[in-house]
Amino acid sequence: MLNLGILISGRGSNMESILKSIKRKKIPINPSVVISNRRDAKGLKIAEKLGINTEVIESKSFEGNREDYDKKIISVLKKHGVTPDNGLVCLAGFMRIISPQFVKKFKNRIINIHPALLPSFTGLNAQKQALDYGAKYSGCTVHFVDAGMDTGPVIIQAVVKIKENDTEESLSKRILKEEHRIYPEAVNLIARNKVKVFGRKTIIS
Ligand code: GRF
Repeated sequence: MLNLGILISGRGSNMESILKSIKRKKIPINPSVVISNRRDAKGLKIAEKLGINTEVIESKSFEGNREDYDKKIISVLKKHGVTPDNGLVCLAGFMRIISPQFVKKFKNRIINIHPALLPSFTGLNAQKQALDYGAKYSGCTVHFVDAGMDTGPVIIQAVVKIKENDTEESLSKRILKEEHRIYPEAVNLIARNKVKVFGRKTIIS
């Protein structure tokens, strides 16, 4: 069984949906640790309540050195049994860019959720970008993390229709609902070894 590490920075609602789904839907993965780069992340309390180990690795002392920071993350993941061989790392609102060294070491072992239909609207404020662009549909994407920004192979996407009177808040809320559905689904597929990666493409069996 894979060991799961979840990296957060804030609210942690995707983390919560994954952790709850593991119990409820019997996803065969061992939730090993939740790591936050911020001590005040609300998600930490939720993880503690759910009985999951938590760790805080503040970036302050690593200012400007992403590789050293990520080395620390890798060592803490390892401490909790999350390794490239038997681990999966979920980025769940983790507001840091992962170093190429981390990505390389955990090739196809790190996944992320992005609140847009990639490759559209990468980066921050994806919901606002979709609204400002005048898109009629947006949604969310779970993808493997590669060295680029929101560019790795897509695992699952969900479509959300944009309404004429949508605000950033109302659209974000509907997208979030879909995030909470597809992120645990992606974790389940990977836990059951049902996702194969061929270049940019994934095949789900
Ligand atoms: C989500 O919208 C996710 O798509 C994005 O950051 C947000 C995190 O929210 N990457 P939460 O911390 O999971 O509640």
